[in-house]
Amino acid sequence: MTNTSNNIKHVTSALASQTLLDGTLTSPVASVPPVKLLPWLQVIKLGGRSIFDRGQEAILPIVEEIRKILPEHRLLILTGAGIRARHIYGVGLDLGLPVGSLAPLAACEAGQNGHILAELLAQDFVSYVEKPTISNQLANHLANAPTVVGSAFPPYHNHEFPTSRLPIHQSDTGAFLVADALGAAGLTIVEDVDGVYSSDPNGPEGQDAKLIDEITYDELAKQTGTLPVDRTLLEVMANARHIQKVQIVNGLVPGRLTAALRGQHVGTIIRTGAARP
Ligand SMILES: Nc1ncnc2c1ncn2[C@@H]1O[C@H](COP(=O)(O)OP(=O)(O)O)[C@@H](O)[C@H]1O
Ligand SMILES: [Mg+2]
Repeated sequence: MTNTSNNIKHVTSALASQTLLDGTLTSPVASVPPVKLLPWLQVIKLGGRSIFDRGQEAILPIVEEIRKILPEHRLLILTGAGIRARHIYGVGLDLGLPVGSLAPLAACEAGQNGHILAELLAQDFVSYVEKPTISNQLANHLANAPTVVGSAFPPYHNHEFPTSRLPIHQSDTGAFLVADALGAAGLTIVEDVDGVYSSDPNGPEGQDAKLIDEITYDELAKQTGTLPVDRTLLEVMANARHIQKVQIVNGLVPGRLTAALRGQHVGTIIRTGAARP
């Protein structure tokens, strides 16, 4: 009888003899740049509150615009949550649910919006797929369809950080994490404003708000007021590996999304940590 136990015990690994928590020891092995898995992919995040909650007046023109650009790109369109998530947060908070229970409730709405979009584009061979399929079989789906729709919400769920009563990782963060992990060509975030302003353009001081043309993630993090994107987006941007810039565009203005996907500067560009020289 062959004794294989020696081979099993002596699997060689460059990381075997040190803690994985010491960056100086792991860096010779771990500092190799990751490959771009889907370098031709364009990721779009469509806002829940800014687009879907407006109903047909906002959704149908965007659907038409997406339909026209399908032949130009391979797209992963991720949808966010809006008013129904805010309602369920209110109900859940009232009942004392922990943040890790609130996150998947809000994520359901992001998924519902994705299902709505996919149904409207079904005749163009577009389907909604769940997160595990995006993780494992996106290439296969995109080989057969021009576009795939999914939920932008990241699946932190019960692992959501208990730093606040509301989930901090929302759909902008989720879309960015997926786009960067896939080594996508770009990420465009679609809102109902022309980009990021110095303060909320629809707020009480809106008339003084200035549109920001281009900014780095760390400069934007210094802006203390509200933003049209998650704050955690700026945190994950710091350590981005592939996505060098994200553009925020106004989806209510016909042609802006098309122009952004063609590489034109039509909104606010936020530069990430991957853009460092
Ligand atoms: N600094 C800012 N720049 C631009 N928009 C902002 C800013 N602060 C707040 N907003 C508001 O964010 C709104 C978009 O809301 P948001 O919750 O991001 O929607 P969505 O769920 O679609 O992402 C805009 O209509 C705008 O009024
Ligand atoms: Mg937003």
